[in-house]
Amino acid sequence: MSDTVPFSVQIRTATERQHTEAENSRFMADMLGGMLGLDSYQRYTGQLWFVYRALEGRWDELAADPVAGPFIKPELARTAELERDLTHLVGPDWRAGLTALPATAAYAARIDECARDWPAGYIAHHYTRYLGDLSGGQVIRGTAEKLWDLPHRGDGVRFYVFEGVRNPAAFKREYRALLDELDLDDLERRRVLDEGQRAFSLNTAVFAELDAEFAERRLS
Ligand code: HEM
Repeated sequence: MSDTVPFSVQIRTATERQHTEAENSRFMADMLGGMLGLDSYQRYTGQLWFVYRALEGRWDELAADPVAGPFIKPELARTAELERDLTHLVGPDWRAGLTALPATAAYAARIDECARDWPAGYIAHHYTRYLGDLSGGQVIRGTAEKLWDLPHRGDGVRFYVFEGVRNPAAFKREYRALLDELDLDDLERRRVLDEGQRAFSLNTAVFAELDAEFAERRLS
């Protein structure tokens, strides 16, 4: 299907089943269903900080890369937003009490490895997070605002607010065009699709560890 099906469609199709799994993971369902407390959202947001630090830590080098460069867009950067959210949710000392779960550390390490050695593979991670945040992330924001009485699009949910992306639908269209323009041979395409699936699995593994951590505390 490589020549006829656009790459943006290939990567969405390759990860579709896993997307449904992630969306319906017990941790997500319980957290967004109000079964867990605010501390589940704090913990989840803290894990995202490790992930985005890895995603954004090598942007200076990646911006100059011929393959990954076009994807590096400052308006997507989330690390500062996560830090603002964590300051609001946890307090100014949020960093002192924050630890990466083993699955989070493994996820961040894989992102960093791709960012360092394999820019095309890095794109799979970039896609999995940023295109998701621009889409389903908006559902999570609205639910978190209601559940925990957080200011609308303010501190606590800034991670989900892309101030620099005025028109998310148009942005996603342009993003998909960048995916479609990638000049990769068939083998490399296959490898990037595999990395996309790996990126989803790494996310699901973080959810599973969060689920285990909150299992005893699930409110009935
Ligand atoms: C409660 C959890 C989630 C909900 C409600 C949700 C919902 C959605 C929705 C509504 C879309 C838009 C589909 C479209 O534009 O046609 C979307 C797209 C996407 N989501 Fe999620 N999602 C969730 C979790 C996740 C997770 C955990 C990931 C990966 C880490 C993710 C990655 C993506 C990606 C990459 C896309 C873009 C698909 C594409 O058009 O290529 N989502 N999601």
